[in-house]
Amino acid sequence: MNRDPWHFRRDELAEQVLNTIAHGPAQTLSLFAPRRAGKTEFLVQDLAPHAEAQGHRVIYASFWQAPLSPLAVLLHALEKSREQSRLADRIRTTAWRVAPKLKLSAAVPGTGTGAETEIDLTRLKGEPPTDLLLHLDDLLGRVSRNARPTVLLLDEVQELARSRSNAPLVAALRTSLDKRREGLKAVFTGSSRTGLAAMFSNRKAPFFHFATPIDLPPLVKPFVDHVLTVFRKTSKRTLDPDRMLDAFDRLHRNPYFFRLLVQTMLYDPDHTVSSGLEHVRERISVDLGYPEAWLALTPIQRETARALAMGASKPFSRVFREALGAALGDEAPSAARVQAALRRLERLGIVDTARGEWELADPGFGGWLTAGKEGSEQEWMSRK
Ligand SMILES: Nc1ncnc2c1ncn2[C@@H]1O[C@H](COP(=O)(O)OP(=O)(O)OP(=O)(O)O)[C@@H](O)[C@H]1O
Ligand SMILES: [Mg+2]
Repeated sequence: MNRDPWHFRRDELAEQVLNTIAHGPAQTLSLFAPRRAGKTEFLVQDLAPHAEAQGHRVIYASFWQAPLSPLAVLLHALEKSREQSRLADRIRTTAWRVAPKLKLSAAVPGTGTGAETEIDLTRLKGEPPTDLLLHLDDLLGRVSRNARPTVLLLDEVQELARSRSNAPLVAALRTSLDKRREGLKAVFTGSSRTGLAAMFSNRKAPFFHFATPIDLPPLVKPFVDHVLTVFRKTSKRTLDPDRMLDAFDRLHRNPYFFRLLVQTMLYDPDHTVSSGLEHVRERISVDLGYPEAWLALTPIQRETARALAMGASKPFSRVFREALGAALGDEAPSAARVQAALRRLERLGIVDTARGEWELADPGFGGWLTAGKEGSEQEWMSRK
C-alpha cells in the first residue's frame, strides 16, 4: 500500500496486538480511545497491513454513522473480502454508496434465494431477518482459517449497543465467533467507555467478558518529531520542536488536532504557533460538535459538566452541590437532581464513570468548557 507520508507508523503496537489475538490467549480485543485519537488509522494503516503481510486475511467494517444497517455493513465487508484479498484495495473500491446492491455468494437458507442473487443493502433496516443472519454465519464460516486466523476489525462497535433492534445481530455475531475460536479473531474499537461497557462489561451484555480490553496508547513525542520532519521535507521550513511539542500538549495530545495545526502552518507561512492554534480552535470545536452539544443542555447539566471539567469530583457531595447552586444562582440542588443531570450527560456521551468516578468522557470537550469557549473568546486550548 502507498502509505500516507504523514502517517506515523506504529509497527510495534501492531505486532503486539496481532500476537495477542493470533497466538495469545485472547480471541478478541477491545480497543478504547477518545474521538479522533487514531483508532481507525491504527487499524487500517498499521494493523491491517501487518496482519496481511503475515498471511492473515483482514476484514474491516465500521459502524460509525453508517447509512446502512450494521448487518448490511457486515455482509458487504464479508462478501467483498472474498473478491479482493487486500484490505487497502477493498477500501478504495468500497462502492456501496453509489451501488448499494450486493451479490450474495451463496444461497440464503430457507428462502429459495439462490447464489448470485442481488440484495438491496439499503432495505435492510430494523431487526435483521433470520435468514440473513444465517447467511452471515455461513460467510463467517467460509472466511474462517485455522492456520492463519482471519482478523475482523470492527470499528466503533459501541454503535451496535445503541438500538435494541441490533440485539439479534450482536448475539449472532457472538455465537459465530464462539464457534470459530481458532479461525476468527477480532479487534473491536470504541470511542465511548460507556458504550463499550454496554457491549462488553455489563453482566447482561452480549459480549460480557468476551474481549480483553486495552486502551490505545496515546501518541507521544516521536509522533510529533515525525510530523515535523515531514513538514520540513514538504515546505523546506523548520518549526521549533519545543514549541510544537508544547502545542501538542495543549491540544490534549490529539493527533487530529495537531495535524490540523501543522496543516494550517503549512499553507500559511505567516502563522506563528499561537496564531495557528487560534486558527484551528474554531474548526475543532465545530467539527466535533461542541457548540451543538452545549446548546442542547439545561443549566444544571451545563454547570455539572463544567464542574467536572474543572476537576471537581464527588458530584453528590454537599460541597459539590453547593458550588453548583452558587453557579446556578440558586440553592444547592438535591442529589437526585444532580443524578438526573449526570444520567442525561452520560446518555449524550459527555460524562462517564468507566474509571470509577464521574468524569468528562472527552478531554477535548473538557478543555473547551473550562476555557469558557461557549461564552468568551478566550483561547481554550491553552488551558489544560
Ligand atoms: N499514526 C498516525 N500518524 C499520523 N496521523 C495520525 C495518526 N493517527 C491519527 N492521526 C491523525 O488523527 C486523525 C484521526 O485519526 P482516526 O480517524 O484514526 O481517529 P479515530 O480514533 O478513529 O477517531 P473517530 O473517533 O473520529 O473515529 C487522522 O485523520 C490523522 O490526521
Ligand atoms: Mg475512527
